[in-house]
Amino acid sequence: MKKILVTSALPYANGSIHIGHLVEYIQTDIWVRYQKMCGHECYYVCADDAHGTPIMLRAQKEGISPEKMIARFQTEHQADFADFSIGFDNYYSTHSSETQHFSNLIYKGLKEGGYIERRTISQFYDPVEKMFLPDRFIRGECPKCGAKDQYGDSCEECSKTYNPTELKNPISAVSGAKPIEKESDHLFVNLSNFEAMLREWTGSGTLQPGVLHKLNEWFETGLQAWDISRDAPYFGFEIPDEPGKYFYVWLDAPIGYMASFKNLCDKKGIDFDEFWGAESQAELYHFIGKDIVYFHTLFWPAMLTGGGFRKPTAVFVHGFLTVDGQKMSKTRGTFINARTYLNHLNPEYLRYYFAAKLGHGVEDADLNLDDFLHRVNADLVGKMVNIASRCVGFITKRFDGQLASALPDIALYQEFIASGRLIGDAYDSRDYNKAVREIMALADQANQYINEHKPWVIAKQEEKAVELQGVCSQGLNLFRVLMGYLAPILPLMTKEVEAFLAAPITWQPEPLLAQTINPFKPLMKRVEKKQIDAMIEDSKESIPSKSMPSPVAETINYDDFAKVDLRIARIVKAEHVEGAQKLLRLTLDVGEEKTRNVFAGIKDAYAPEELINRLTVMVANLAPRQMRFGVSEGMVLAAGPGKKDLFLLSPDDGAQPGMRLK
Ligand code: 2FM
Ligand code: ZN
Repeated sequence: MKKILVTSALPYANGSIHIGHLVEYIQTDIWVRYQKMCGHECYYVCADDAHGTPIMLRAQKEGISPEKMIARFQTEHQADFADFSIGFDNYYSTHSSETQHFSNLIYKGLKEGGYIERRTISQFYDPVEKMFLPDRFIRGECPKCGAKDQYGDSCEECSKTYNPTELKNPISAVSGAKPIEKESDHLFVNLSNFEAMLREWTGSGTLQPGVLHKLNEWFETGLQAWDISRDAPYFGFEIPDEPGKYFYVWLDAPIGYMASFKNLCDKKGIDFDEFWGAESQAELYHFIGKDIVYFHTLFWPAMLTGGGFRKPTAVFVHGFLTVDGQKMSKTRGTFINARTYLNHLNPEYLRYYFAAKLGHGVEDADLNLDDFLHRVNADLVGKMVNIASRCVGFITKRFDGQLASALPDIALYQEFIASGRLIGDAYDSRDYNKAVREIMALADQANQYINEHKPWVIAKQEEKAVELQGVCSQGLNLFRVLMGYLAPILPLMTKEVEAFLAAPITWQPEPLLAQTINPFKPLMKRVEKKQIDAMIEDSKESIPSKSMPSPVAETINYDDFAKVDLRIARIVKAEHVEGAQKLLRLTLDVGEEKTRNVFAGIKDAYAPEELINRLTVMVANLAPRQMRFGVSEGMVLAAGPGKKDLFLLSPDDGAQPGMRLK
């Protein structure tokens, strides 16, 4: 039994999880589930990456504290992950005492080891917001091609990379002010001091060949010192003995892996040092995307060494996700959020499709929507579920659910069991596409067995009852072996199969004989084209341009305005409407004897429970409107482009239901 600790990259706490993220979480989760099925002591931890300027600024813009905003995103992320069956043993936040503790510890180690250097640098500074500006928050004209409104680090038109100070006519994206150059002291980790260790470690089988190649290029160009400090205002941890200076978000992000694991250890009584101590014999793996290799293969091992901890056993890098061969796009509707997907499709379809596409390399993976539909329907419904559904009816109807006491073709069963080696090796080496190919070849074989023995024919011959029971029991047992092989990919279907076979799904099981099974419920529905279309439609961004307000409407006189009777309303009740995609049913108190029933298209933006009891504004004299779900007696007011971005109005404290707006 091995001790294994596994991580996926920490998502930032200022955005939603989308299907691009899910490639990694699904890839990692499948691997972890496989290791656990093998009986290893394996833990999978993750956390929200909660610090940094973008998070601080977004919270500011929303008018809430960063703590409040990161808490909201953490809740959302955890719900998304749970619904995709991402089985973290612990999910935490980098904004935690454990992260701060280890950040300080590692910093202290680096400092005492003489790896920290102080340098004065000159950077763009926003004189209005009184803050230094990260490259991404400076806009200006590209020094090469002159394209307008480009980021401070690279041009989206001509791809040139540059320093923000090279931009022409720079402005701060935070305040719109013209930035000034200002000096400040920063702390740097001297990476070149670790070069021998890093060359040794990266070259010792820890990396995929393509990744190692990149690393060697970086070694050739020379390792630059790493700037780990940021000046206030910053959302993060203040550096010990450096008032007003904070750890850069990328310093404490990977430390979040440790922090999450420490938090788990404290809850479960696991020995932290067995996994992270310098002498640890446990295995440690990080699954990451190809964009963050530098952080994980150079900075991170250096930090760990400086802090006296062990280094990762390996870093597993994957490529990006494309949809229909192209970058995910908001206008094409292929930038699909996890929640939008879940509103339309079964999460196991995506888990299966990604598994069918993923190998151990760093190539990008493509979600081809037509192929997705065909593949899921052909493999999971057409092949897998079909095996069970062709056998189970006879067992329940003719034999009271009893399986035969022996298998007619034990050799075939053994052949299926023997294939477990190859399939297991494919999982272990992250060649899930190979595992899936093997499993589906076996599923074809199982279906062929049923075709040849034709249970539907022998069922008509009374004297062949024993044969019928045998053939169907054989089919169901083969199905059960295959389900064991698919269990890392399809945890939900596995649970349902366990319930219907009244037996556990395990890797390479003994045959299930002379036992009673439960009536069959359809295990998985076919994907319908219209579900995919609706998901794409739902993902299309309606905002024409980022901040352009629509032109103001035609002028009206006061009498026109006075015709509209706007009232303060209290939301007494808010409910989902069966069958409605966008609507919530609101019950409003507008100070009248009776409450009003109003349908509002705000379902994507608000959960019913967060609306209850809040005050808002309604048009009280709008003619009642008959809708598919009932009569709507007015309208509540909200602003925004639509979907998630809709914002209900609220009055200041003191307003009472029924008050008229004037
Ligand atoms: O690139 C990102 O999304 C980062 N939030 C990943 C951090 S991974 C780890 F180092 F914490
Ligand atoms: Zn350019």
